[in-house]
This record gives sequence, C-alpha cells and structure tokens, in this order.
Amino acid sequence: MIETMFDQDYLRDPHAVFARLRSEQPVYRTATPQGVQAWVVSRYEDVRAACTDPRLSKDFTNNPHLLKANELEGGDSSGLAAVVPHNMLYVDPPDHVRLRRLVGKVFTAGRIQALRPRIEQISAGLLDRAGTEFDLLHDYAVPLPAMVIGELLGIPEGDWPRLIAWSNTTIEGAALDPGDVVEAATAFTGYLDELCESRRADPKDDLLSAMVQAQDETGVLSRRELVDTAFLLVVAGHETTVHLICNGMLALLRHPDQLAALRADPSGLPGAVEEFLRFDGPVSTSTLRFTTEPVTIGGTEIPEGQLVLVAFLSANRDAAQFADPDRFDVTRAPGQHVAFGHGVHYCLGAPLARTEGVIAFGHLLRRFPDLRLAVPEDRLAWRPGLLMHGLTSLPVRSSLR
Ligand code: HEM
Repeated sequence: MIETMFDQDYLRDPHAVFARLRSEQPVYRTATPQGVQAWVVSRYEDVRAACTDPRLSKDFTNNPHLLKANELEGGDSSGLAAVVPHNMLYVDPPDHVRLRRLVGKVFTAGRIQALRPRIEQISAGLLDRAGTEFDLLHDYAVPLPAMVIGELLGIPEGDWPRLIAWSNTTIEGAALDPGDVVEAATAFTGYLDELCESRRADPKDDLLSAMVQAQDETGVLSRRELVDTAFLLVVAGHETTVHLICNGMLALLRHPDQLAALRADPSGLPGAVEEFLRFDGPVSTSTLRFTTEPVTIGGTEIPEGQLVLVAFLSANRDAAQFADPDRFDVTRAPGQHVAFGHGVHYCLGAPLARTEGVIAFGHLLRRFPDLRLAVPEDRLAWRPGLLMHGLTSLPVRSSLR
C-alpha cells in the first residue's frame, strides 16, 4: 500500500515535508490523492536535471494510457487526464517548439511592455474599491491577473466569474471528484472553442484573434490545439500570479522587518518579487512527466513508464543551492530559483508575471502603510491539489489609506 504524501499536514506545511524528503528520500514514491502512483523529486540539482532530461517526457497526448497504467488499486486517474490538454505543456520537442512558437510570436516583450499602464490602472482601480478591510485574494490578487490576461486574450469581462470557477476546478483536479473536473474542463474548452470561432469570423485587436490568424496563415495547429493553448494561457495566466501576490504578502506580514525594509526602499521591489517566488512560490510540484526508459535520479532508479513530479517549491529551499534557505530576505540575491520551472517548459509568462507582481506590490505598499492580517493566522487555509501552493483567502485590514 503506497500512502499519499499530499495529506493535510502537507497542505499546512509543505516545506516541512519537503525538508524531510530532501534529507531522507530525495526521490520518493508516493500516491496522488486520487490513487495514482508518482515519484517526487525534491532536491535542486535533481529537479533541474529532471527538467532537461529527454528521457522524462511530457507527451501524454500520444501516451494517454500512462495515467491509467499508474493507477493504484481503487485509484482513478480520470480527473488528472481531464487536465492534460493538447498544448505545449504536454508535449516534447519538436511538437513543443511548434506549439510554443505560435504563442511566442504574439506574446512578445513589446506587447507586455505596452500593457504596463493598463496593469497600473487595473491595480489602482481595484484598491480604490477595496475598503479598509478586504480579502486580498478575492478582491485584488484574483481579479488583477484575470483582468490582465482576459483583456490580452480578448475575453469579455462578464464571462470571467465562470472561467475562474472552471479554472479552479481543473487546477485542483487531483484533489476533487473526477466527474466534476471532467465537466469543468469540457465546459471550459467548449466556451473557448466558440470564442475562437467568433474571432475567426470577426477578428479583433487581441491575442486570441492574433493566434487564430497565425493558425490560419501557418496551418501548423489543429483546432483542438488552438483551443487548448488558449485554455493554458487562461489557466496559467491567472492562477499562479494570484499566489505570487498572496504568498508574498503573507511572507511580508510574517516578517515585519522585511516589510519595513521594502517600504523604506521600494526600488528593491523587483528583487523582493524574486525572493517571494523563491521563498514560497505558487507552484508546488510541476505538471506530470513520465519516464520513457529506466532513469536513475539522485541514486534512485525509476522504472520505465512511471509518473514523475518535480517539486519546484522544494528545490527553492535546498540548502545545497541557497544559503540559509528558510530565511526570508528581500535583499538576498536569489540566485537561480526554479519557481518558473526550468528547461524547454520554462514559464512563457514569466515576464508578465514579474511585471504584474512588481506593480501589484507597489500599489499595495503605497496605499496601505499599516496593512495587517484581519484574522488569526491559524485561520488561513491552503488550496488542495498537487500543483498550486496558495491560500483560499487572505483577509487583511488597514486603519490608514
Ligand atoms: C508567478 C506566476 C507564475 C508562475 C510561478 C508560473 C510557473 C510556471 C511553471 C513552474 C511552469 C513550468 C511547468 C512545468 O515544467 O511542469 C510554467 C509554464 C508555463 N507558464 Fe507560467 N507561471 C506564472 C505565470 C504565468 C503567466 C502570467 C502566464 C501567461 C500567460 C504563464 C504561462 C505559462 C505557459 C504558457 C507555460 C508552458 C510553457 C511550456 O510548456 O513551454 N505563466 N509556469
């Protein structure tokens, strides 16, 4: 019987669980909450090596049986399978290059730079509406990246509540009823398919129209791949940045000296954002990989056809890479953290996420000089699921603004 490590203790304090794994079993065989066997890689060097090892594939599109094959007795992988769409995140080169290039062509540094004033405006507007007591997660950290990626893609604002609900369900897939995950993923892709088709008929000045146009011109992408790429951008574009903002703010509230240092010198914000990402990043374990042949990682042999989870959250606290890794220090030179992954699947949205993070914290710190938690810390709860490391809400208050 293989126990799951993804239990309540893990959700409360994944860093303690990972510290134990790094020192005792750096490549650890466990079960996902849905009863699927997977190996967790927790040391920095091993994590980086796993992300660039061609024997670790992400191509579930052509190997759909692999999830089923790793089900344990009584397990059910259908919830996991529902979140394995046909996009760049679930294929290897050369398919990966083909799918990533299409988005790279339209998701340019120039487009992100041009967005800066709009991100500033959205941040300021959301904080204008917040009172002196509000939920930093629901009132600020969720809508900010959602509105940004929504506007970028061209998704009507009124549709966001539905999209956020579908996205949350698919992201927490491994921890929920598989039926709910399949239903949410189907509704979500159906919606995006319709939107892509309406942009084909009537193009607008948005990323979705640019992607549809690039698809028409190059013919290198199927309709399913286009929709699943839009799905990836919606999910990746808003789920993660939420927790950059909230985990970062929580770390600052827990370390008042660091918060004071940042207030005293806001020019340190870009560096502080890197430390938020290293210290308590939004992505706990990666999306799934599998071995195409037996692979030895950190001295442990993983047989062929097995699922592998690369623990970015753990690697970023590895003392072999970061001096005094459990110390939160906004002035530290964070070195090469892996909060955005590593290798060919390195986060495509990292420049956008960094821009959003710096702007979001700039406004927050300026507006609320005495921001503090509005509930006892032990009332904060963490999201279930393998992928995300993030809170379910973050009530805060301020007497000044
Ligand atoms: C703080 C915010 C973010 C974090 C921590 C983050 C983290 C990550 C990580 C760890 C991966 C690699 C997953 C793996 O190898 O299994 C990834 C991939 C990706 N991210 Fe992000 N992400 C963030 C924001 C964004 C944003 C704003 C977008 C924008 C649209 C985005 C788009 C993507 C895409 C498209 C990929 C797939 C890249 C590929 O497979 O080639 N991400 N991200």
